[in-house]
Amino acid sequence: MVDKYGRHIEYMRVSITDRCDLRCRYCMPEGCDKVSMSQILTYEEIVRICRAASELGISKIKITGGEPFVRLGCTGLMRDIKALDGIEEVTVTTNGQTLERYIDELKDIGIDGINISLDTLDPERFEYITGRGKLDKTLRAIGLAAESGIKTKINTLLQKEFNEDELPDIASLAFKYGIDVRFIEMMPVGAADAGTGLSNPEVLRKLMEVWPDLEPDESVHGNGPAVYYRRPGEKGGIGFISAMHGKFCSHCNRVRLTSQGELKPCLGFDTGTDLMPYLKGSDDELREAIRRAIFEKPEAHSFSDAGNAGDHAERRLMSQIGG
Ligand code: GTP
Ligand code: 5AD
Ligand code: SF4
Repeated sequence: MVDKYGRHIEYMRVSITDRCDLRCRYCMPEGCDKVSMSQILTYEEIVRICRAASELGISKIKITGGEPFVRLGCTGLMRDIKALDGIEEVTVTTNGQTLERYIDELKDIGIDGINISLDTLDPERFEYITGRGKLDKTLRAIGLAAESGIKTKINTLLQKEFNEDELPDIASLAFKYGIDVRFIEMMPVGAADAGTGLSNPEVLRKLMEVWPDLEPDESVHGNGPAVYYRRPGEKGGIGFISAMHGKFCSHCNRVRLTSQGELKPCLGFDTGTDLMPYLKGSDDELREAIRRAIFEKPEAHSFSDAGNAGDHAERRLMSQIGG
């Protein structure tokens, strides 16, 4: 459907849990609050919301967390959403720590894409930034995902003085595996401080020094805000998600559903519609609530280098919103 600014909204990010097996410092720092399981949507409720959203033109669903694979039975949910009329693509974003266990099932379901977060190639740095993660597990997940034939992307969050010296090495995984590697500018949401981020124009400049033949790639790689570059003859691409230095709100195509049932029209605002009460009513009432929330989607986020400005700035943790 079309929102009040004329944007076609066709993509819903569905956070199925705020829990995670890691504690990335910018997303879900050690000791943070967790939502109680009784406040979380059941799988039946999630499917019902996805069905209502699909009737309004949502055709692409991204399953997120926290870490989606920590919620028991999540692959069954993916299968059910995939089977809904009008849903063309179901993709998932994960830290990869347990992906090995699920990869065959994801293939069987026909999952359309897997995005795996990887901020560093150094095992000690990996453990530091994720609180407890093991680099070898995520690297193995990347290899298996690439091998599986499922469209695979790596997400690297840019962090000055943490991973800036490794960016060409991380980028080279795109050419090694024939997959996409995307660099993400840090957004000032929850525990994250955008001041610790790097900018994508800077990163592109550095990568062009290593690979002067990088050229813009206009082909569609996904449903998100990334813009891509490629090298002639190489299958994998380098993507840039530049929420701070390349604001993409004017062509935003998405809304978010939190694990607690809030339909969040924009990442940058704490405003949204609580769908829980509508789940007690008819399908028509639920669909109407979703329609209104989508129509009222804000024009743009108000992030700035100085912080996440405004009365309705989003202060919840990224793990509670779904990235
Ligand atoms: P695909 O390219 O289709 O796989 O989707 P995607 O890039 O949206 O998925 P992913 O879950 O990997 O998200 C990557 C990054 O993009 C995360 O850091 C998200 O927070 C960011 N992102 C996705 N959508 C938005 C958005 O609407 N606004 C902003 N500011 N950032 C977004
Ligand atoms: N800004 C941008 N991206 C973030 N992510 C987590 N926190 C932030 C932030 N503050 C990314 C993770 C993951 C994706 C789903 O969201 O790195 O790859
Ligand atoms: Fe977990 Fe991903 Fe957040 Fe890290 S960024 S704590 S892996 S949800």
